[in-house]
Amino acid sequence: MKKFEIAVIPGDGIGQEVVPAALDVLRTIAEVHGGLKFEFAEFPWNCDYYLKNGKMMPDDGLQILQGFEAIFLGAVGNPAVVPDHVSLWGLLIKIRREFEQVINIRPAKLMRGLQSPLANPKDFDMIVVRENSEGEYSEIGGRIHRGEDELAIQNAIFSRKGTERAMRYAFELARKRRGHVTSATKSNGIFHSMPFWDEVFKQVKGDYPDVETASYHIDALAAFFVTRPHIFDVIVASNLFGDILTDLGGAVMGSIGIAPAANINLNGKYPSMFEPVHGSAPDIFGKGIANPLGQIWTAQMMLSHFGEDEIAQKLLDAIEEVTADGVKTPDIGGSASTREVSDAICSRLKAL
Ligand code: NAD
Ligand code: IPM
Ligand code: MN
Repeated sequence: MKKFEIAVIPGDGIGQEVVPAALDVLRTIAEVHGGLKFEFAEFPWNCDYYLKNGKMMPDDGLQILQGFEAIFLGAVGNPAVVPDHVSLWGLLIKIRREFEQVINIRPAKLMRGLQSPLANPKDFDMIVVRENSEGEYSEIGGRIHRGEDELAIQNAIFSRKGTERAMRYAFELARKRRGHVTSATKSNGIFHSMPFWDEVFKQVKGDYPDVETASYHIDALAAFFVTRPHIFDVIVASNLFGDILTDLGGAVMGSIGIAPAANINLNGKYPSMFEPVHGSAPDIFGKGIANPLGQIWTAQMMLSHFGEDEIAQKLLDAIEEVTADGVKTPDIGGSASTREVSDAICSRLKAL
């Protein structure tokens, strides 16, 4: 019996609704598989915790998490009570940074039974490799002269190591898929970092002559996500470009509520973290209608990460059978609740 110990952080808002739904699916996976066991340890770290304790997690929070095989997270943020830069840098971004989860992989594909807002989309199945440790998300900079003459400087950081690492990950991934990598650049407008990005891409691509490539400026690329998503296989992007592109990837699938993600630690020193692309959706929290597919597909990525490819594929099939059956939450045109969708997926898994 293989056992996986998983730290669970539901977080804020709909994280508290979609995480329990996805945990039920994982429990069903264990039951159906027979040779797998999950042990979930739940941590109540979120904005309520901050209001009580003045911090997003205990001082030894990272030490606690380090002992786990993986972290399964819902969403963090409740801007009505805690400013986002405080809550996110105190928990989500802190874990990503300290645990060297340097790559963020985020797929988007056309699912059976889902209507993409694109009129008649050709079949698409793409995956964004987002640089997850530097780029535009940096603490370098500062503010001076409060008031009228105030000035804020925010430095973006692009190291050769980090840039190359993300690109190599994308090329390796493309080799396992359809053999195509697109680089998201903006070397026409951003003077230093993006020409550097292009140079590194050119160098790395030299090591992968079997992989085809393309390079588009981020603005054009964003439009192509809508007008011709089928041309993409793997897209490699900086931290901010990858962030924006993957909400768009969610949108062209039908809803951001479907989009999954994995924060990958490559050196094996720390656990990887699995959390969907979407946030805590305060506008729908408490209504029981949050789409759990993003969180459940994220669980599927965690199973693949554990090397459990067979059961992971079964879960993806079960998700698509349920969408094809029309069991959908309102964001994708249905009337089912969060729990009706996760229950339908559990029933499918049991029927396999
Ligand atoms: P959001 O992703 O929470 O919501 C954007 C829109 O998408 C909303 O209209 C929401 O109702 C809808 N939506 C999101 N997930 C959905 C789901 N599963 N089913 C149905 N509809 C869904 O983004 P936001 O409103 O910009 O951010 C809200 C909070 O979440 C902020 O505090 C933000 O910083 C935080 N956030 C956290 C994460 C994370 O923890 N990974 C990611 C993004 C945003
Ligand atoms: C995401 C989120 C986070 C990010 C925010 C909440 C800091 O939008 O995971 O996509 O920008 O990385
Ligand atoms: Mn985002």
